[in-house]
Amino acid sequence: MKSLIPLLALSTIVASSTVQRPLQDASSSEAVVSSKSRPLVNSTQLQGHIHSDNLLKRAKELYKIAELGTAEYGHPTRVIGSEGHAGTLNYLYSTLSQYSDYYDISNQTFYATLGKIFGSRLVLGSAQVTASPMSLTPPTPKKEPVYAPLVLVANEGCNPSDYPKNATGSIALIRRGICSFGAKSEAAGRAGALAAVVYNNYPGSLSGTLGDPSKYHVATVGISNEDAQPYIKDLEAGKIIPSSVWVDAIVRRTPTTNIIAQTKGGDQANCVMAGGHSDSVSEGPGINDDGTGSLSLLEIAVHLTKYSTENCVRFAWWAGEEEGLLGSDYYVSQLSSEENMKIRLFMDYDMMASPNYAYQVYDARNSRNPVGSQELRDLYIDWYTANGLNYTYIPFDGRSDYDAFIKHGIPGGGIATGAEGIKTQKEVDMFGGRAGAWYDPCYHQLCDDVQNCNLGAWEINTKLIAHSIATYAVTFDGFPKRTSVKTDAVTEDSPYHGPELFM
Ligand SMILES: *[C@@H]1O[C@H](CO)[C@@H](O)[C@H](O)[C@H]1NC(C)=O
Ligand SMILES: *[C@@H]1O[C@H](CO)[C@@H](O)[C@H](O)[C@H]1NC(C)=O
Ligand SMILES: *[C@@H]1O[C@H](CO)[C@@H](O)[C@H](O)[C@H]1NC(C)=O
Ligand SMILES: *[C@@H]1O[C@H](CO)[C@@H](O)[C@H](O)[C@H]1NC(C)=O
Ligand SMILES: [Zn+2]
Repeated sequence: MKSLIPLLALSTIVASSTVQRPLQDASSSEAVVSSKSRPLVNSTQLQGHIHSDNLLKRAKELYKIAELGTAEYGHPTRVIGSEGHAGTLNYLYSTLSQYSDYYDISNQTFYATLGKIFGSRLVLGSAQVTASPMSLTPPTPKKEPVYAPLVLVANEGCNPSDYPKNATGSIALIRRGICSFGAKSEAAGRAGALAAVVYNNYPGSLSGTLGDPSKYHVATVGISNEDAQPYIKDLEAGKIIPSSVWVDAIVRRTPTTNIIAQTKGGDQANCVMAGGHSDSVSEGPGINDDGTGSLSLLEIAVHLTKYSTENCVRFAWWAGEEEGLLGSDYYVSQLSSEENMKIRLFMDYDMMASPNYAYQVYDARNSRNPVGSQELRDLYIDWYTANGLNYTYIPFDGRSDYDAFIKHGIPGGGIATGAEGIKTQKEVDMFGGRAGAWYDPCYHQLCDDVQNCNLGAWEINTKLIAHSIATYAVTFDGFPKRTSVKTDAVTEDSPYHGPELFM
């Protein structure tokens, strides 16, 4: 018989993290035996346990937990580092702990970088220009304005040679493209610039993130191409443009935790994995994003304990998704090749109940994603079709926690109901709702509360999640075998890693 301590936990111990061993109790070997007497999970039956009133009850509890964040943030939130997030982790963990004979439950703690912006201003010549400070930007020195001439950087400002001598002591004006915003900010800092202004290379405003902090980063803001063009012309004509940038912000590191639960039963070398993110943005309680996906998985994890499985089922609740997929990136980075190969596929469930929903399926393809991604996509499509429901494809472009998995050879996919995209008339014909409005008008805002969730869509998608888990918990027959921990598929250039632009 196999060790009851899953290799998963062993493989994730690293110097910078503290991983708690899963709960072990004296009865766990009996539990494994008795799980054999449970009937084998059956998709129809598992779906039959899913009711929107139970989901609603959990959503209301989660909102109360988000209110724990009010003392520090002035409103409910479950952002990492907040009491609301700590409460979320306790809720998930304590619920799962009631089934510690069925699941090995572990915490994976890691350090996340957290930014907070209090204010910013950009003045070019004599005019104030609308600018978005980049997420994770450092403040200007002493959080006071810097005054310096604007200097135009050559090309995209990715190489030291793009910076003229007089970039030292200047405010650098840099075009978007080729390299990340973080790389531009670093290059500007190394060239001695006091601050950086990145202008868009497409119409429209520009906001993004600098990503991982660097000691060379300088305060960095984004502006639109339209706003930048007149100043670029003046600079090219040799004019001097006295300017100022002010950013008041902090960047700090905080420990936070992924929670993982894996069935003790089932083939431990062949796992179906499903995840949602436990955190919200700081602006609101995040009940749809991603309270819904997290609670769908919790509800299914509870009902799955009535059954046995042939394969192992592993659930994850990621932390730090909103700061750039930190939890899932960290998790995958800590997998040995052997552990990586045990994950037959990863399914991402983020935003299951948008009020102006569409049934969206990530358009994962075997031609450009790890083989098996397309079979998973087709499982979702077949289910919607069999249930007489419409669906649409959405880009599989790195905006949620599947990203690290598909970059490390693990087939992935998932479903969603839409964020800040705009619903078309055609989609209104397919799903109802309002054309010309966001799928989730409360996306990343304070109003992402219990009322923001469409219970009908949530119940349907939770049944589909139950179907996806039950299907692969029974068999991987016909599902492609894992071949590599690297992806040989074409990697698409996506400017997204998580919810924000990084380049
Ligand atoms: C699953 O359960 C349903 C309903 O109880 C039943 O009709 C179906 O035959 C079962 N499927 C399998 C594969 O046992
Ligand atoms: C894991 O984290 C949860 C939530 O923070 C906590 O309640 C629990 O005590 C932790 N478990 C272990 C074994 O550290
Ligand atoms: C910086 O140097 C460039 C030439 O490399 C020149 O065109 C520009 O006017 C200078 N800017 C300032 C503020 O001195
Ligand atoms: C699916 O979409 C078509 C329009 O393309 C619509 O006529 C039909 O009613 C929709 N089905 C459902 C279940 O909403
Ligand atoms: Zn999300």
